[in-house]
Amino acid sequence: MPLVVPGTSSPLLAQRLAGVCGYQIAKVGYRVFPDGESYVRVEDDLKGEVAVVVQSCPPPQDKRIMELLQLIDASLRAGASKVVAVVPYLAYSRQDKVFLPYEALSSKIIARAIEAVGASSLVTVNVHSELVLSYFERIRALSVDAFPEIADYLGSLDLKDPLVLSPDKKRYPDAQKVAELVNGEAAFLEKRRDLETGEVTTEERALVIKGRDVVIVDDIISTGGTIVNAARIVSKDNPRRIIAACVHGLYAANALEKLAAAGVKEVISTDTIESQTSRVTAAKTIASAVRDLVEG
Ligand code: R5P
Repeated sequence: MPLVVPGTSSPLLAQRLAGVCGYQIAKVGYRVFPDGESYVRVEDDLKGEVAVVVQSCPPPQDKRIMELLQLIDASLRAGASKVVAVVPYLAYSRQDKVFLPYEALSSKIIARAIEAVGASSLVTVNVHSELVLSYFERIRALSVDAFPEIADYLGSLDLKDPLVLSPDKKRYPDAQKVAELVNGEAAFLEKRRDLETGEVTTEERALVIKGRDVVIVDDIISTGGTIVNAARIVSKDNPRRIIAACVHGLYAANALEKLAAAGVKEVISTDTIESQTSRVTAAKTIASAVRDLVEG
């Protein structure tokens, strides 16, 4: 029977995934050396079984990524026949292109490292850019969609005349998908990010907001700047409630405080990054992809 090998960043999701798939959880020992280096050892003999390594890569990303690579390596050394790497939040996916001359193409470095260490396949959740999947040249890499689960949760919030708003035109299809599932209307704003400073500006747009529940959806909340801009625009027109929903809640630089100050009443995310806002689990969605890869 396949075993789930849990990483330190995904203890709950690893358990949930094992529960949904009916797999055992392998014992793993972790240590940090006095100089800060990580040590990982798989303490069970994996005896020709498939290892499903579950390790998300939120901050501190570089440490999480090293641990992910160590878990893959250690699973193979413990006798696993193959490793399915489940990386719910795949860090560095926003650096999917070279935007300015001589930048490192970080997402391609990550893909090459995961392949080089010996994973047979990779599953992630709502990858920021499909381009990143194409950087896996030797193994199968796929991204599953957690927005239906988010929509399910939103459905339990008794939304009034919901407007599902994408704060960025590029991600409008996600808002459309959620709007359809909650019987709401979808809309988008247009944002621009300064490539040097990272500062986000969002254009105002005439939208009918008064008395409605506005759900701002995005794949990632990092500094919160994108959602804060959108919340400020819609709050001028007296919405009933502003809710922010994302797949990956990174919450850098006091993002949650900034969202609250901008009038966001509730923030929802999934357990791809485990935090106090993780109201939704991506376990079932990931499980169907993992089963296909394990059994296929
Ligand atoms: C960017 O293209 C993403 O879809 C998110 O909008 C972005 O990562 C959010 O970042 P922040 O919260 O720092 O504005």
